Amino acid sequence: MKNFISVHDVEDIDALVQQALLYKANPLADITLGTNKKIGLLFFNPSLRTRISTQIAAQNLGMEPIIFNVDKEGWALEFMDGAIMNGNTVEHIKDAAPVLGSYFDILCIRTFPGLKNREDDYAETVINKFKTYSGVPVISLESATLHPLQSLADMVTIKEHIKIEKPKIVLCWAPHIKPLPQCVANSFSQWVSACGNADFFITHPKGYELDAKFTKGAAITNHQQEALANADIVYVKNWSAFNDYGAMPGNHAHWMLTNKKLAVSNNAKIMHCLPVRRNVELSDEVLDGEYSLVTRQGENRTWAAQAVLADILKNNF
Ligand code: CP
Repeated sequence: MKNFISVHDVEDIDALVQQALLYKANPLADITLGTNKKIGLLFFNPSLRTRISTQIAAQNLGMEPIIFNVDKEGWALEFMDGAIMNGNTVEHIKDAAPVLGSYFDILCIRTFPGLKNREDDYAETVINKFKTYSGVPVISLESATLHPLQSLADMVTIKEHIKIEKPKIVLCWAPHIKPLPQCVANSFSQWVSACGNADFFITHPKGYELDAKFTKGAAITNHQQEALANADIVYVKNWSAFNDYGAMPGNHAHWMLTNKKLAVSNNAKIMHCLPVRRNVELSDEVLDGEYSLVTRQGENRTWAAQAVLADILKNNF
């Protein structure tokens, strides 16, 4: 692949998952693949897992990662074509991205949505402009609408822990104290559908419908218990409204997942991308219980990132 922005950049998902598992078994198998290659990790927003797992993945391939906290340490960037820059922005992406492309062989970008203007966020302006102007491969470390490295790690985790041929996977909305992006839910839906080997359900309160382009093929219900019945995997995540963009319609604190609710499942494995608000999204008992895979998902972020980096190194240099 040239870039890694969504599942559509991946030729063979199974092969990528297998490669991640091979790196998990032997992290330094390709230690010289990225020798003398520099990778820039640009953060417009905070991160724990993505930042550290991608650095380790790069180092396992012999690359030198450099982190740049654009939001705190860089010039305020302008992304609008033709902007008259007499306001707060100092440098245009058309000028900054080619310079960064001259420093780095691969650029990785984390950028959250503003959750104010749906068209702007769903245009993926930031990551697309880096793709257009940097001249080097671009990897999403989570963008306005998608989180593909998380989703790949999720597919690796499912492959490792679920031996059922066609599991019932439920993406279950969870309460939160503030509006969050739809990107993890969009991305997980996109990857589960692309893998095509699950009965896929999405459950959320009314008003939290996701963009239909990501949820094609999923059975969608507002009845949480109905969705949880016989589930093999429950992926828990909050997201804000797509239609009334960025809103949090209704008070749905009772959607927090508990062991009592999960009693109707097939001893479902529990997934969440983290960070998680304990006893708001999920109860302690679920997160600390024997079926929780959340730590495994975080662990697998390294191997997912390593598989993606290796693919880009093999196909572009
Ligand atoms: N899941 C995830 O992307 O975690 P971070 O925000 O900590 O990177």
